[in-house]
Amino acid sequence: MFPEQRPRRLRRTPALRRLVAETSLEPRHLVLPMFVREGAAEPIPITSMPGVVQHTRDSLRKAVVEAVEAGVGGVMLFGVPLEHDAEGTGSLDPNGILNAALRDVRSEVGDSTVIMSDLCLDEFTDHGHCGVLDEHGDVDNDRTLRIYGEMGVAQVEAGAHVVGPSGMMDGQVAAIRAALDRAGHQDAAVLAYAVKYASAFYGPFREAVDSQLKGDRKTYQQDSANAREALLEARLDLDEGADMVMVKPAGAYLDVIRSVRDMADVPVAAYQISGEYAMIEAAAANGWIDRDRAVLETLTGIRRAGADIVLTYWAVEAAGWLNQR
Ligand code: PBG
Repeated sequence: MFPEQRPRRLRRTPALRRLVAETSLEPRHLVLPMFVREGAAEPIPITSMPGVVQHTRDSLRKAVVEAVEAGVGGVMLFGVPLEHDAEGTGSLDPNGILNAALRDVRSEVGDSTVIMSDLCLDEFTDHGHCGVLDEHGDVDNDRTLRIYGEMGVAQVEAGAHVVGPSGMMDGQVAAIRAALDRAGHQDAAVLAYAVKYASAFYGPFREAVDSQLKGDRKTYQQDSANAREALLEARLDLDEGADMVMVKPAGAYLDVIRSVRDMADVPVAAYQISGEYAMIEAAAANGWIDRDRAVLETLTGIRRAGADIVLTYWAVEAAGWLNQR
């Protein structure tokens, strides 16, 4: 017997394949994470992330304009300060690098894209942890929350449309939401890094932000063995008022993206992180894989898993390819 159902019929031509594609990938789905370094005279390449730089304030403005022209959904800014201290005070200074850059970018592109900011202390602390430490050297959850609230207000007042708390402190969304509301910023949105795993794939990011971290983040980021716990984290953040939730990293956690998508009634983002970027770039540089196809395949896979929004260092380049289709 020959088969009656022949799925190959719908794969015969590019037009048929396009007609029946279940998952779409458009520039608006993509968010570009960007680094800006205090005092930089010119953009500084990040060795472990070929093609990604630590921007100067000036080159950042230009790169954001390019991102807007490519039609990406948004940008996510990370600051790289020159000075670090135990409390990460640079994060609250209106003239600190991240807040200054947010002001630059907002005045450059206004509301034409969505300006997001990483809300975390690790770039600003001299110990490199995402919060302040108590007398035992442990990350002090509740004292960190007070700083996060102030940071959120500073970032929104500098120009962020959306703040992205990424420190995995318990109660961070509620604390930031309350601080924003108290300061009259009811309109500012929170994209919660709700589900964030302690991952080896953050490696290149540590270079990208000149991280001071010794040790690891396993007392606050999740264990990669746990999927059910991700639903608890997401539910808590939704109850605390998260406007969007994120799963991070993406590639090794596609099942988690799917289950968060299925339980949440808000947009779900996924972050294709520095190590995911570096792996493909390194393999492609060796001629081992077709870079552009691999990039699109991973982005499509993350969308297929259920992400409405994908943060990726390839956002602008991929948007360029998608615009030509
Ligand atoms: C914390 C933060 C990290 C990343 C984004 N926000 C690092 C970490 O938690 O260790 C990683 C992003 C990437 O690897 O691309 N501020």
